[in-house]
Amino acid sequence: MRVEILRLLDETGFVSGEYIAKHLGVSRTAVWKQIKSLQNKGYEIESVRNRGYRLVSRPDVPIEEEVTFRLDTQFIGKDIYYFKSLPSTNMFAKKLVKDCVEEGAVVISDVQLSGRGRKSRNWFSPEGGLWFSIVLYPHIPPERGMLLTMASSVSIVQGIKEATGLNSVIKWPNDILINGRKVCGILTELDAEMDRINYAVVGIGINVNNKLSEDLKLKATSLVQETGSCVSRLKLLRSILKCFDENYGRLLSGDYESVRASWFSHANIVGREILVHGEKTILKGVVSSVDESGCLILGTGNGSVRVVSGDVEYL
Ligand code: BTN
Repeated sequence: MRVEILRLLDETGFVSGEYIAKHLGVSRTAVWKQIKSLQNKGYEIESVRNRGYRLVSRPDVPIEEEVTFRLDTQFIGKDIYYFKSLPSTNMFAKKLVKDCVEEGAVVISDVQLSGRGRKSRNWFSPEGGLWFSIVLYPHIPPERGMLLTMASSVSIVQGIKEATGLNSVIKWPNDILINGRKVCGILTELDAEMDRINYAVVGIGINVNNKLSEDLKLKATSLVQETGSCVSRLKLLRSILKCFDENYGRLLSGDYESVRASWFSHANIVGREILVHGEKTILKGVVSSVDESGCLILGTGNGSVRVVSGDVEYL
């Protein structure tokens, strides 16, 4: 009902309580209660005797009503779960999967108390950042699972550009950099069998307006640092979800090549000399390609090597 009231308020200037009540088939008291609840959520709604209610401003916060407002997507963002604080949005998203949540559900938290990065690292997630996860049930072969991270990376680069005008680049396998520093990390968690992916949770952490811890300052950056002014997390999230919806749609229709092509156009990795730090080994070589499964093909002194995971250092 709140979303419908917002739609009515958005379309016209003043709308009477009586009109809203009739339109929704509820009492005027019920309407008044919803208006109060919207005001508590940060909507500025003016109330004038004999004229009704008027929406003055909307909150710039990634709450459900704002994220879904005119979000014209096919797969992503029908259900939004917004929290002030959570241990980890990925963990919560996996719980939602157990409860059979619909595809495209998005979990957002202002703060994460146990945010997780790749290789079970901690992910610093204070207030001001954008920490969110998307639930997917992708009908793509498990060996193509890496394409989910690739489609996410492309969508983040596109979303950052749209929301801030900033150019960012993809660093294999799951980082986004601005001016050589990490602004975003992606943690894709898959549950798969030999022939199918049961579910995927794509977790995305973006340094937006948050402070960076001392040990991160040298190698990380934030959007506020790069633009010099506060960035709307809501606008950024909406842009990324919209872009992701399109790129994910391309994957589902089997158009893997166009997602890969977009990824290459933002990755700037082919031809570069790199070190790949693995669990126990360090490989040195020149990147010749990234294959259909998202693995790095590295030309080393001893021939070509296919690298599945690791941390890349540019030389
Ligand atoms: C990495 O670079 O190591 C990946 C970091 C991924 C962090 C995000 S923040 C939202 C989601 N929830 C988590 O606990 N982690 C991911």
